[in-house]
Amino acid sequence: MADAILEVEKLTKRFGDFTAVQDLTFEVQPDEVFGFLGPNGAGKSTTIKMLCGVLTPTSGSARAMGYDLFTQADHVRAQIGYMSQKFSLLDDLTVLENLAYFGQLYGLQGAKLKDEIQLRIRELQLKPLENLLVAGLSTGEKQRVALASSTLHRPRMLFLDEPTSGVDPLRRRLFWEAMDDLVKDGMTILVTTHNLGEADQCDRLAFIMSGRLMAYGRPRTLKEGMGRQVLELRSERFRELQAAALKQPGILSAELMGRGVRLALPAGQPTAAVLAGLRGQGLSFEAGPAEAPSLEDLFIDLVQQSRAQEV
Ligand SMILES: Nc1ncnc2c1ncn2[C@@H]1O[C@H](COP(=O)(O)OP(=O)(O)OP(=O)(O)O)[C@@H](O)[C@H]1O
Ligand SMILES: [Mg+2]
Repeated sequence: MADAILEVEKLTKRFGDFTAVQDLTFEVQPDEVFGFLGPNGAGKSTTIKMLCGVLTPTSGSARAMGYDLFTQADHVRAQIGYMSQKFSLLDDLTVLENLAYFGQLYGLQGAKLKDEIQLRIRELQLKPLENLLVAGLSTGEKQRVALASSTLHRPRMLFLDEPTSGVDPLRRRLFWEAMDDLVKDGMTILVTTHNLGEADQCDRLAFIMSGRLMAYGRPRTLKEGMGRQVLELRSERFRELQAAALKQPGILSAELMGRGVRLALPAGQPTAAVLAGLRGQGLSFEAGPAEAPSLEDLFIDLVQQSRAQEV
């Protein structure tokens, strides 16, 4: 593997007695899209804010592009872009004024500032919006302006905190295409999302829960690492089916999904005996094919593990 562009070690943040981020250790490789996942309150935004210099860590270290991110921040700040969960735009200014403001904040001026603004306006289709006040824009429009304003200085590393929340599926897709273009231009992106379809598109993922790292790696490796297969059963009597499945040996878990039950079995275990066992109890159902687990299965599993550790 190439040298990491970001190395985070034992990063910790406490607010009074409460530990929001605990001993987080991970690396981000150059030119990858690194996904940061976890339930509400897991500590994703707190971590990003520490890495972007918005919050001071309680302990731990981080190196980015060869510099200590906390003691030599001046050397790397210009190489980092940050799009916050709230977008942090200035509502009372127009789109153009916002871009000029953030560009100057990142050290651009004169012709360079104008050129970069025009480039981002073209790339992110902002022309029709350029003279509108940000306050009146839709969420999807604000999201594009925020992406433009955080990349005007062409940072090497970009931190995006839930950039697509509240955005419709088409805009979401266009946003991911825009991110791909940035990566092709040599940017490395760390992005948080609650959307597991998006997470599947990341090169690597870190799952954090209650401030701790629970799983870390390529989406495919993480899913395979669960060592299980899943199958969906459809039945009118889905609650009874779930109760029966939970008692049946060889079934690892049985989650309700809509009007069906999603079973997890050890990978490679023949499914016929398990299904016959359930049918033998007088339950009728239709069974889908056995499949590899999804990131959603992994997510639910990790949340349950994390809860079990807390009690
Ligand atoms: N300034 C603060 N003072 C006290 N507690 C805080 C502060 N900022 C965050 N927290 C707490 O730290 C925890 C982690 O918050 P954080 O915003 O990092 O979560 P998150 O993973 O980004 O969640 P979400 O998915 O909802 O955005 C939460 O319990 C939150 O209430
Ligand atoms: Mg957050």
